[in-house]
Amino acid sequence: MPKPEFGSLFATRVEEMQGSAIRELLRQAGVKDFISLGGGYPSPESFPLPTIKLLRERVEQKPDYASRILQYGPTEGLPELLNILPGFLSRENRQVRATPENIAITAGSQEALAILGMMLINPGDEVAVESPTYLGALQAFNLNQPKYIEIETDQDGIIPASLEKAFQDHPNIKFLYMVPTFQNPTGRTIPFERRRQIADILIRYGKLAVEDDPYSEIRYEDESIPSIQSLAPENVIHLFTFSKTFSPDIRIGGMVAPKEIIEKANLIKQGLSLYTSNYNQALIYEYIAGGFLDQHIPEIVELYRPKRDIMAQAIIENLPDIFEFTLSKGGMFIWVKLKKEYESLASKINIKEVLKEAKEAKVGFVPGAPFFPYATGNEVMMRLNFTNQSEENIVKAIRIIGEILYKKLL
Ligand SMILES: Cc1ncc(COP(=O)(O)O)c(C=O)c1O
Repeated sequence: MPKPEFGSLFATRVEEMQGSAIRELLRQAGVKDFISLGGGYPSPESFPLPTIKLLRERVEQKPDYASRILQYGPTEGLPELLNILPGFLSRENRQVRATPENIAITAGSQEALAILGMMLINPGDEVAVESPTYLGALQAFNLNQPKYIEIETDQDGIIPASLEKAFQDHPNIKFLYMVPTFQNPTGRTIPFERRRQIADILIRYGKLAVEDDPYSEIRYEDESIPSIQSLAPENVIHLFTFSKTFSPDIRIGGMVAPKEIIEKANLIKQGLSLYTSNYNQALIYEYIAGGFLDQHIPEIVELYRPKRDIMAQAIIENLPDIFEFTLSKGGMFIWVKLKKEYESLASKINIKEVLKEAKEAKVGFVPGAPFFPYATGNEVMMRLNFTNQSEENIVKAIRIIGEILYKKLL
């Protein structure tokens, strides 16, 4: 039998899909002796191993373990978890207002992004994103063939005037996607006053926003800032995840949204995967209810803060000073880019070449391009992850990147 012509079988939505930066990162991370500053990986040391053992015992000793936990579960989520989440979400770092009926559990926040893309985007619809933005959101939304409107940002994230102008110039924008706290990739946080302005613009223009927040628990300094959802609950869908505070492998996250959105999200989710693992939801319920999460967050913060500081110091000492970086107050990334006054030097530094040479020296990072929906390919920027490497490896990797950059400038 002749082989099918796969090229002619692909749906238009996947025809133009290109190599995925995420897949490349996952591959790099597994190579021996390779120092990857690439993925948004937590440190394996951050996984609460003894606690996980205890939580498993608690779940497996439940009287309805076999009859309910190991059975198919409700699409919206496990009732115990749904009931405890409003308390978790109302903590200082989010101050999200939620009831169990406003929450849908998903397989990580990535599934929530995919569901929202399917729910809200028809081919050609306009979606506003921060510039730069989380590449995994672009990958999820791209399946639905949107047109992106890029919103300008500065050290404090979205510039409210740029958002307002986008809503004026593009009245059909379906929604704004943003990561206001310790953004991926820049590590930046939108201050409270700007959040108020953004909430006000959303309300005035009757617009919807998706506020993605995987990182606000992991704060190294300063006070928490309330979410934008808390300022405009009818206009904002808020995403959360336990990937960074428990383990990504658990694949438990979700969304808080007005009921109409939750109903549709559950219908889509049913078609995709029926429901999220009861077992893993029960583990997270026990993790929160037993006070283990509260105990563990400060340990994660103490583990990561010195790594961030050492990376910042290594950048200062080893990268040419035509570069600047954001000292993120939380999260997992430092973003390095050319200082404004040196942008003319961009033509001398082919960042793809820099990455190629870094990889030959067994060092990886993510260059700027994948974080822009319409990249030129030579965004001279680097996203550097500091959580998943030893302090020694961080310094070694930054030295290697610095040597390559200096050579390019000769
Ligand atoms: C901004 C943002 N959103 C979503 C995700 C996906 O996380 P998960 O699906 O593990 O919850 C990540 C992961 O790094 C992220 O940085």
